[in-house]
Amino acid sequence: VTYSTCHTLPYPVHVGSALLPQLRALVPVLDRAHRIAVITDHTVKRLYADAVVASVGDTRTHLISISAGEISKTRETWSHITDELLGAQFGRDSAVIALGGGVIGDIAGFVAATYLRGIPVVQVPTTLLAMVDASIGGKTGVDTAHGKNLVGAFHPPQAVVADVDTLATLPARERQSGVAEMVKHGFIADATYVERLTHTDFDAPLSANAWTSLVLRSVEIKGAAVAADERESGIRKTLNFGHTIGHAIEHLLAYTLPHGHCVAIGMVVEARLAAALALCDSALPTQIARVLERVGLPTTIPHALTPEAILSGARHDKKVRRGHVEYALPIRAGAMAVGSGTFGIAVPDAVVLAVLTHR
Ligand SMILES: NC(=O)c1ccc[n+]([C@@H]2O[C@H](COP(=O)([O-])OP(=O)(O)OC[C@H]3O[C@@H](n4cnc5c(N)ncnc54)[C@H](O)[C@@H]3O)[C@@H](O)[C@H]2O)c1
Ligand SMILES: [Zn+2]
Repeated sequence: VTYSTCHTLPYPVHVGSALLPQLRALVPVLDRAHRIAVITDHTVKRLYADAVVASVGDTRTHLISISAGEISKTRETWSHITDELLGAQFGRDSAVIALGGGVIGDIAGFVAATYLRGIPVVQVPTTLLAMVDASIGGKTGVDTAHGKNLVGAFHPPQAVVADVDTLATLPARERQSGVAEMVKHGFIADATYVERLTHTDFDAPLSANAWTSLVLRSVEIKGAAVAADERESGIRKTLNFGHTIGHAIEHLLAYTLPHGHCVAIGMVVEARLAAALALCDSALPTQIARVLERVGLPTTIPHALTPEAILSGARHDKKVRRGHVEYALPIRAGAMAVGSGTFGIAVPDAVVLAVLTHR
């Protein structure tokens, strides 16, 4: 077994190779629990459920699989799963394993947060996006007709176990979506990491060591921002870089472009906002675009979307303060603008429209 552990958060994040067969040995709560619910989706079940069930022991394990995709992240799925656990007489001495991408992490985490007022969850992310982002930070929840992630709870896991071997089966598009968040981590906190990402050929199979080291750096960066925010610094907001514009694009395109791809475009546009406000050098947006293009991510706004539609989408992204939309903006590779201490920069609509119009 080769792995490393990030201790930045109150729970350990183990990243490495051949970890699925070691789950029980790695996570004490999985050894102690009377019953274990392994919650996954049909795709991940076919690929990895056997290894997990073999590791934790099949006599006390109950495998629950749902349809893959965002469409399953609903209260209806939450009721089905909790009813199934109640029917199987799961008690307070049971635990949940969330085996899959961010959709599974969010819904299985929300099941664990609410079942009998809360039972332990272990996050076992199998997408790059879930390893570097969704499984870290303790946010869980479901989507509603009014929007994404609007009903949920904070429920930090007992541990996160990211087995990078699972990335071998991930479709290229899903991998790129995760790489976008890694590039974001580099630009918000670590210029050296940006360099490493730039020199990585993600289209060739990466070694387990290479994946482990890259994923771990992202986990440290997100983990540090999340941990600092528990002390009220507002620094968690820096993780929103690229997301205000990115979410607007994602919504306008009816979720047909992956999240990371929308965030990639969002980062370039938001860096241009920072340049327009003279917060960063005018070369930064191009520098960010070059890194993203190298890994096959888009960097320009799809032509069908008008500046007005994007601005209006951004205004709906929950960050409107006193009539202005607040953005997390970069000042250079590895550093974000602090603003008035909150890491949120109010940008006048006129500036946003000017940048969006000048494509
Ligand atoms: N809680 C948080 O802080 C947080 C942060 C970011 C994103 N999210 C949430 O995460 C979700 C997106 O996560 P995602 O991108 O992982 O999507 P996902 O969970 O839908 O997974 C993407 C696809 O990859 C498949 N898959 C998963 N692992 C695989 C593997 N190893 N090999 C082959 N296929 C595999 C899945 O079946 C699915 O079809 C969104 O719902 C988003 O809201 C949550
Ligand atoms: Zn994101």
